[in-house]
Amino acid sequence: MDDRMVTTGFREGEDDQEQNLRPKTLREYIGQESVKQNLQISIEAALKRRESLDHILLYGPPGLGKTTLAGIIASEMGQSIRITSGPAIERPGDLASILTNLADGDVLFIDEIHRLSRAVEEVLYPAMEDYALDIMIGKGPTARSIRLDLPHFTLVGATTRAGLLSAPLRDRFGIIFRLEMYSPSELAQIVSRSAGILNVEARQDGILEIARRSRGTPRLANRMLRRVRDYAQIRADGIITKEVADLGLLNLEVDPLGLDKLDRTMILTMIDKFDGGPVGLDTLSAMTGEDASTIEDVYEPYLMQLGFMMRTPRGRVVMPAAYAHFGRTPKATIQEDQEQIKW
Ligand SMILES: Nc1ncnc2c1ncn2[C@@H]1O[C@H](COP(=O)(O)OP(=O)(O)OP(=O)(O)O)[C@@H](O)[C@H]1O
Ligand SMILES: [Mg+2]
Repeated sequence: MDDRMVTTGFREGEDDQEQNLRPKTLREYIGQESVKQNLQISIEAALKRRESLDHILLYGPPGLGKTTLAGIIASEMGQSIRITSGPAIERPGDLASILTNLADGDVLFIDEIHRLSRAVEEVLYPAMEDYALDIMIGKGPTARSIRLDLPHFTLVGATTRAGLLSAPLRDRFGIIFRLEMYSPSELAQIVSRSAGILNVEARQDGILEIARRSRGTPRLANRMLRRVRDYAQIRADGIITKEVADLGLLNLEVDPLGLDKLDRTMILTMIDKFDGGPVGLDTLSAMTGEDASTIEDVYEPYLMQLGFMMRTPRGRVVMPAAYAHFGRTPKATIQEDQEQIKW
């Protein structure tokens, strides 16, 4: 793995630091106002009724705070959380043992829930619906199934790909939240909070500069803050100002909009070699040497948010805003093509 800034996935060694920066309560959780409001109501209602909370599905691009929110849900309910992930649960028996070891009210967090196998999902259905576990005893004609009662737990599932979730699984969640990218001002609040925890002095303009470049993603904002802090310590007097943030991030080849080398390669190749598209995802992947799924999950959501590209049935298309940003002129015919797509 190279040292690119943008990958929004976990990094080695970053886990501990992320723990410290993670908000522990709904109050501390910045942004996602509608999710927070709805969650607050569901939590209060469940507490009042002394029931466990409905199962919750969280989806959205990496680094927007799904894992963080799962922890907050457990702590706001006053319950403990058990954390696992789709790929970690290999066989139905693995899930059965997790489920039978839960206590009433516990939160079970399954990250990357779209990667559960079919066989494992089948165990999950009655568990979610009836808090029951069906176990087959014996084989062949004498086989019979017995039903075990499970504690009343709350499943919190997280996925970057709601579309990959099977319909029966999706339907069993009572609450579905989509996390949105954060605005620069929300990101500024996050950076400012993190700077306080990390004990670095940062000026408002420096904080805003980091916020603007972090692609709507708290994990990236925190990562950039740490890198700019290093730069401030070595090359400046330790204080994060706009200039320090500018220079620090320039060093990392992150441009003022937060675009990195791969974004630039992708958009410029589409413009220069394919007249702005449409270009297929596989072609993009081959051109950039990046996984198609990473392009889809990490790069494209932000480029689309900026209005730089669009997904169409025929492939990816570069939009006028990207031409303007990179100082290129769109060809007339393509402009018309894109007008049509827009309408
Ligand atoms: N709303 C928020 N307020 C403050 N900090 C946040 C918020 N959301 C996320 N963060 C910060 O961003 C980091 C990444 O968040 P988190 O790990 O919850 O993302 P994720 O959606 O689970 O990502 P992935 O899909 O990669 O698992 C956290 O360590 C936390 O510090
Ligand atoms: Mg996570």
